[in-house]
Amino acid sequence: MLDDTILDAAVSTEFRAKYDPQDMMGLVLKFPTQCREAAAITWQYGLGKPESQSITQVIVAGLGGSAIGGDILRALSDMYGTVPITVNRDYFLPKWVNSGSLILAASYSGNTEETLSAVSEATSASLDVASVTSGGKLLEIAQLEGYPYALVPGGQPPRSATGYMFFPALNYLMRHNHFRRDFTEDIEETLSLLEVIAKRLGPGVLTNQNPAKQLALKLYGKLPVIYGSQGYRGVAAYRWKCQFNENTKIAAISNVLPEQNHNEILAWTQAHKQTANWALILLRDPDEKQDSPRIARRVEVTREIVGTDTPVYEITAEGSSTLARIFSLIYMADFVTVYLAYLYGVCPTDIGSIDRLKVELSKLN
Ligand code: F6R
Repeated sequence: MLDDTILDAAVSTEFRAKYDPQDMMGLVLKFPTQCREAAAITWQYGLGKPESQSITQVIVAGLGGSAIGGDILRALSDMYGTVPITVNRDYFLPKWVNSGSLILAASYSGNTEETLSAVSEATSASLDVASVTSGGKLLEIAQLEGYPYALVPGGQPPRSATGYMFFPALNYLMRHNHFRRDFTEDIEETLSLLEVIAKRLGPGVLTNQNPAKQLALKLYGKLPVIYGSQGYRGVAAYRWKCQFNENTKIAAISNVLPEQNHNEILAWTQAHKQTANWALILLRDPDEKQDSPRIARRVEVTREIVGTDTPVYEITAEGSSTLARIFSLIYMADFVTVYLAYLYGVCPTDIGSIDRLKVELSKLN
């Protein structure tokens, strides 16, 4: 049994030096500042071919922490887009790309081989390419080919740089009329809300007033299953899963309703035979009952089917715009997954297995 106040030590420099030597929590706390800075980053335009005026689809090419910004853009395009946005997490572009395709390459390091391969295909096919990166080969290619690019500050783990990877991309697509909504006010709302959340969930806030610390304590020893109730909450659920994987180094499952109700819901009939230690996190929208009563009912029935043996934690998005709501859900995961890493005694920043894979693959070249 964990002592309920164990995470309150996380405020001390000795604790952070021992459990978080590369200071992931510091980066999490600076996330609102990062987003504010990112929203002001300007694009550089080279002397390459002029941008096509007739883009009919956007393909975000990226992996891992750099792809999540693409998922957010896709969720926004489902609600406010003038063109579809898809996310491509592979070496190859889909065969259906054509002269109306914009490839938005997102790689924080600029050296991810799958992203570079997708960009190389785009270059061979003379497609429009725009890049967001902190440097590496992606920057070199952008400068060589004269592609537009947003250069973001480097030096931190890509998954902690979601603000840098997302806001310049949003601004680019907005400026090129790929959304029917002007997000300027939504961005402002999001930035202010993130500042409020940072004050509420930071290490200095004692456990009895800190929902992120409380949730981390409840999740210790459990397998987190994160369900988004619909739409953008599904993107947030996937981000929670990836943050549990990367920051906490634990397995997690994510899914989204209503799709979950058509397959994974059946897994709960035998879930207890696999492990007794499930914990369900439901990510919801504050207007669900009025806007999507059928989804609200689905959530209720899903909870009944999951049963009372599994603890269920509901988190409701904050803010009035969709953008603020997405970021409110995503930001809480950063705190919870780092606090849970402290409880397990693992370094939140370390990604040894990912690095090892990158090194092994680089030997093939
Ligand atoms: C590491 C992380 C990873 C990387 C991924 C791709 O913090 O989040 O998921 O994002 O390996 O690397 P980049 O983002 O440099 O293209």
